[in-house]
Amino acid sequence: MQQPAVKPANPNFSSGPCAKRPGYKVSDLNVDSLGRSHRSSLGKKLLGLCCTETARILGLPADYRVAVVPASDTGAMEMAMWSLLGARGVDMLAWESFGAGWVTDVVKQLKLPNVTKREAGYGELPDLAQVNFDNDVVFTWNGTTSGVRVPNGDWIPANRAGLTICDATSAVFAMDMPWDKLDVITYSWQKVLGGEGAHGMLILSPRAVERLESYVPAWPMPKIFRMTAKDKEGKVKITEGLFKGETINTPSMLCVADYLDALAWVEKLGGVKATMARSQANLKVIEDFVAAHPWIHFLAQDAANRSNTSVCLTLDLPEDKVKQLVKLLETEKAAYDIGAYKDAPAGIRIWCGATVEKSDLEALMPWLAWGYEQVKG
Ligand SMILES: Cc1ncc(COP(=O)(O)O)c(C=O)c1O
Repeated sequence: MQQPAVKPANPNFSSGPCAKRPGYKVSDLNVDSLGRSHRSSLGKKLLGLCCTETARILGLPADYRVAVVPASDTGAMEMAMWSLLGARGVDMLAWESFGAGWVTDVVKQLKLPNVTKREAGYGELPDLAQVNFDNDVVFTWNGTTSGVRVPNGDWIPANRAGLTICDATSAVFAMDMPWDKLDVITYSWQKVLGGEGAHGMLILSPRAVERLESYVPAWPMPKIFRMTAKDKEGKVKITEGLFKGETINTPSMLCVADYLDALAWVEKLGGVKATMARSQANLKVIEDFVAAHPWIHFLAQDAANRSNTSVCLTLDLPEDKVKQLVKLLETEKAAYDIGAYKDAPAGIRIWCGATVEKSDLEALMPWLAWGYEQVKG
C-alpha cells in the first residue's frame, strides 16, 4: 500500500486540550486586560462577558446562572458535588473513567451513605430507565474515554424531586443540551471550543440555587468551593457576584481573552447549531471509514449513544500493534494524541469537535488504513 500523499493540514486530534479553532492566532487575541487587575472595571467587564455571552450563545433559560470557577471542569464538578450533595440520596451513573472518578469522590471522599451506583463497562450505558430521580443524579453527558454519550434528555423527568448534576465538558457546544432537564452543567474551555485549561464553567438552574440556599453540608467547605455567604440576617444566600464575573480567586486573563475569542468564532459560524453540525459532519467521515473497513469498530455498542466528539475505536490488532500505529502516525506528523485513554480498552480516539476541520479527518483516514497495513505484519 502506498503512503498517502496528503497529510492533515492540522494533525491535532487530541481529546483535550483540543485543536485550536481554524484560523486561530494567539497574536489576534485582545490582550488589553493583561497586567491589569481582574477586579478592575475592564477585568470585571471581560469576566462578566464570559458569563453573559455563554448564556446568550448557548441559549440558556433566562433564570440560569453562569460562573467562571477555578480548576477547569474538575473544579466545577467538585464544587457542585461538595456544595449540593448530602441533602438526599444520590444515584451515581458511570460508564467510563471520568464518571467513575465522580463515584470515587462521592463514595470514598464525601462518604455519603445513601448512594446507588449505576455503572456500565466501556462501550455501554447503564440502564437509564432505572435511575431514581427522587435522588440527586450525577452523570457525564459524554464519556470522553469511551465515546459513549447519553442519547438525549428524554429519560430525565421534568418534575424530578432531586437535582441533576451533569458533567458536560465534552458535550457543550457540540451536542443538543436540554437545559431545563439539567440543574447543574459543567464544562471547560479546553474541549469543544479549543480553549485553554485552568478554568471551569458552572451553570446552575434555579432549583440548584434553591438547594444552595436551603441546605448547608456537614463537611468543611474550602474557600475555592464556596458559592454562598450569610447575609445580615444570617440567612444563607448565593454569592451573586460570582455569576457576574467576580471570580473566587485570580483567573488567567489570557485564558479569558482566549475564551472570548472562541465564543466570537462560534457566533461568526452561526452559533451552536453550526458547531454541532461541524461535529456531526466530522463523525460522519469516521462512520463512512468504519463502514468500509472490517478491521475497525466503534467502542460504543449502540449507534444512538455514539459520541460525535470523542470518537473511540477498537482495531483488530493486539495492543502493542495499536500503540505502534499511534506512534507511527505521530512520527509521520499525520495525527497527534490519538491513543485511547490510559484506563480505556486499547484502541484509538479521534476528536471530532467543532474546531477540527472535516478536510483534516478526510486526510487522516487514508493514513489510518496505511498505518494499519504497516503494523499488522
Ligand atoms: C468527561 C470528563 N470529565 C472531566 C474531565 C476533566 O476535565 P478538566 O481536566 O478540564 O478538569 C474530562 C477531561 O478530559 C472529561 O473528559
